Amino acid sequence: MQDAVKTETRRPRSVEAAARPANDEVAAGQSVRVAALGDLHMKEDAAGYYKNLFLELNDEADILCLAGDLTDFGRTKEAENLAEDLRNLKIPVVAVLGNHDHECGQPEEVSRILRQAGVCMLGESTHIHHGIGFAGVKGFGGGFGRRMLGAFGEGAVKAFVQETIDECHKLEIALRSLHTEKKIVVLHYAPVEATVVGEPEQIFPFLGCSRLAETIDRYDITAVVHGHAHRGTFRGATPKGVPVFNVAVGIEKEGGKPYSVMEV
Ligand SMILES: [Fe+2]
Ligand SMILES: [Fe+2]
Repeated sequence: MQDAVKTETRRPRSVEAAARPANDEVAAGQSVRVAALGDLHMKEDAAGYYKNLFLELNDEADILCLAGDLTDFGRTKEAENLAEDLRNLKIPVVAVLGNHDHECGQPEEVSRILRQAGVCMLGESTHIHHGIGFAGVKGFGGGFGRRMLGAFGEGAVKAFVQETIDECHKLEIALRSLHTEKKIVVLHYAPVEATVVGEPEQIFPFLGCSRLAETIDRYDITAVVHGHAHRGTFRGATPKGVPVFNVAVGIEKEGGKPYSVMEV
C-alpha cells in the first residue's frame, strides 16, 4: 500500500535523475497525483517550448506519464530539445515512444537521450512510485471489436497483426512483473474505440487495437492512458470497465489543462 513509499525503477536511471529528490511529500494513505500527456511532437526549432508546462507540473502532480510521439520525426535534435525541457521537472517521468519517434529509424537513440534526462522508458522496464506500478508499450493498430484485423492471407497482413501481438506480449510480461495493488498502463495507440471517436472512422484501424484491451483486462489495472488520436475523445473504458484516457495534448480534458491529472 502507500506506506511503502518509495520510487523504484527496474533499470538504473541517470546519475542526474537519481540525484533528484524523491517526492516525499505524499504522506501514507494520501492519493498520488498522476499527470499524463501525449503527443508533444517536439520540433527541432522549438527548444524551450514545454519548459513552462513542465515547471507548472512540478506543483500539479507527483509523477508524469508521457504517452508517445514525444518528438515530431524521431530526430536527435528534437529529442535533445525535449530532454532539456524535461530537466525542469522535479517529479519522476515515465514514457513510451509513439510512431513519430520511429520515423527516422532511430527510436533507441530517442530513448537513450530521454533516459539521460532521467525519464524511465517503459517497455522492458517498469516503474514503481509511491506503491503504484507503471507499465507501458507503444502498442500498434489493427482496429476494434468484431472489425479487428485478423492474421489471414498475405504475409504483409500477418506481419501487421503480429506487430500488435508482439506489443501485447511485451505489455503482458511487464504487467506480470508488477505486484503493486494499483497499476497504470501507458500506451501510445488506443486500446478501445471510444477514445478515438472524433477522428475520421476510416482511420480507426490505424489508431489502435482491441488486442491491447484484451491484455489489459487480464490484469487488475487501475487506469490506462494513451495518445495518438489527436482528435479523439478524452474518456473511455475497456470491456471489463478499466478507465481509459486519451491524453493527446490537443484533446479537451477535465480541468481545462493540456494534461490530465488523476488521483490514484
Ligand atoms: Fe501524435
Ligand atoms: Fe502517433
